[in-house]
Amino acid sequence: MMPVFPAGRLNDSMNSGEIQELQTAAIAEIAASGDLSALDAARVKYLGRNGRVQDILLALREAPVDQKRELGRLANEFKNSVQAAVDERREALQSAASVAAFDVTLPGRWPHRGTRHPVTQIIDRAVEIFGQLGFTVADGPDIETPFHNFDALNTPANHPSRDPKDTFYLGDGTLLRTHTSPVQIRVMQSRQPPVRIIAPGRCYRPDTTDATHSANFHQVEGLYVDRKVSLADLKGDLTYFARQMMGPNVKIRFRPHFFPFTEPSVEYDFSCHVCGGKGCRVCKQSGWIEISGAGIVDPNVFKAVGYDSTQYTGYAFGMGVERIAMILLGIPDIRMLYDNDVRVLRQF
Ligand code: PHE
Repeated sequence: MMPVFPAGRLNDSMNSGEIQELQTAAIAEIAASGDLSALDAARVKYLGRNGRVQDILLALREAPVDQKRELGRLANEFKNSVQAAVDERREALQSAASVAAFDVTLPGRWPHRGTRHPVTQIIDRAVEIFGQLGFTVADGPDIETPFHNFDALNTPANHPSRDPKDTFYLGDGTLLRTHTSPVQIRVMQSRQPPVRIIAPGRCYRPDTTDATHSANFHQVEGLYVDRKVSLADLKGDLTYFARQMMGPNVKIRFRPHFFPFTEPSVEYDFSCHVCGGKGCRVCKQSGWIEISGAGIVDPNVFKAVGYDSTQYTGYAFGMGVERIAMILLGIPDIRMLYDNDVRVLRQF
């Protein structure tokens, strides 16, 4: 049987001029292919197993010995240049396709924006509100001396708050401050009245952690020293703060208490901003929310810092930041503020 070849092959071997013409035509056709499937069809037509390249290889096989070298070179050049044209066209078509697939009208990806920690939010807001009353921010170290944390604050040597059960001692005579009140001492040591400062910061106590206790927590301390400062000033300023922070109708009440560094001393409560004082879940049915302690600066504190207590009086207060954050933001467990779970924190 006669082998089957495409028409014209046997009798009509290609010469070198025809090979070059075919190459030119192939490259033109490839360059003109409009999409990837047209390109593939052109590739198969020229380079495939039944493609035109076979005519060239046949001509090469049949060529007289003295022409084989020249035809072999042309055959290689055909394959290489046609393949190069295919590759180039494919790349062009693909990048055009990906430009077309990029929908510029789609909304962008929002960069993730963090939020301020709830504790930071409350501190920033307190700084802002007391700033409106003329208070500036003061700062002190977390690692304190017993002098600043206790002695200068008129706290006797046998006071229970000094017990290692209630204070972290660092073993070198220093301690982790148990409240922000030592900042009062540092400020008064460094300047003369009038003084109007708040001191937000971290405090430490060896409390067992539970839903309302954390071994580290934050307070905002306040100190106002001038001539004739009274409990009325304290009540007025705290009321302003409470209304700015919690809501416009909040009232304040003082309950008698004791602190070594104030006399008289009070604990103060805000009326519940949720129920208005009638009693609800937030205020545990009492109508009031305990905030912290305050009072008129004890003359012994002035003595410790060299202020003249016949000329000056002052008030001081402290407030628990976590407590305000939890009440205002509806956070049921103080540990949520310290677990650093962003699923919790980013809600605020
Ligand atoms: N330092 C007190 C506490 O930690 C609060 C306080 C501050 C009381 C200032 C009176 C004056 O409980």
